[in-house]
Amino acid sequence: MGVGGMELHSLLRTPHPALRTPYSVLLTPYSPMEPSIPDLRAEPRERAYAQLLEMQSLLLEGSDDAIAGMATVSALLHHAFSHLWTGFYRVVEPGVLLRVGPYQGSLGCQEITFGRGVCGTAAAERRTVVVANVHDFPGHISCDARSQSEIVVPVFDATGALMAVLDIDSSVPNAFGDADRDGLEKLVAWFARATYVPVPV
Ligand code: SME
Repeated sequence: MGVGGMELHSLLRTPHPALRTPYSVLLTPYSPMEPSIPDLRAEPRERAYAQLLEMQSLLLEGSDDAIAGMATVSALLHHAFSHLWTGFYRVVEPGVLLRVGPYQGSLGCQEITFGRGVCGTAAAERRTVVVANVHDFPGHISCDARSQSEIVVPVFDATGALMAVLDIDSSVPNAFGDADRDGLEKLVAWFARATYVPVPV
């Protein structure tokens, strides 16, 4: 089974038997050779996240590599919803420092200290932070003047230690709600199985 001439299981680390079923419902062709991430902007958010969760589990089947997980989740979310910036800040010094990890979008700032900005607040407080209007958030760090709203979700390892935060910025005001919080928290729950070795500071 292929889409546009490409065998979809070639995207996977370990070809999965589920791919013998019509995976093409999840991936739509955008060029003759490559499958693309579906545009889910018009889908009800719950359904969209359920679809992304299914893709994530197929794509990361057999992997426990946190960086591979971050790269894959960033790409899926960014292209499914056409966000402005989608990516991870990794904990490189627990309780002190976050450093940019895999992301999609325009350039993000390199490092954020715990407690600073939306990412630093989510990291310090170990909770999802939803910001309807970034201009109203004291200490918001602006990496892109087009950013209007933001959601940051903490990412935990199997021991409950904070591994990273997932940061998503939108050029649309008030872009994120409860369905995003729930969907994103389910997606990052995958990282409880991942192995992550922080880069030394
Ligand atoms: N806006 C974030 C900083 C990271 S970037 O926007 C990519 C914040 O306030 O934490």
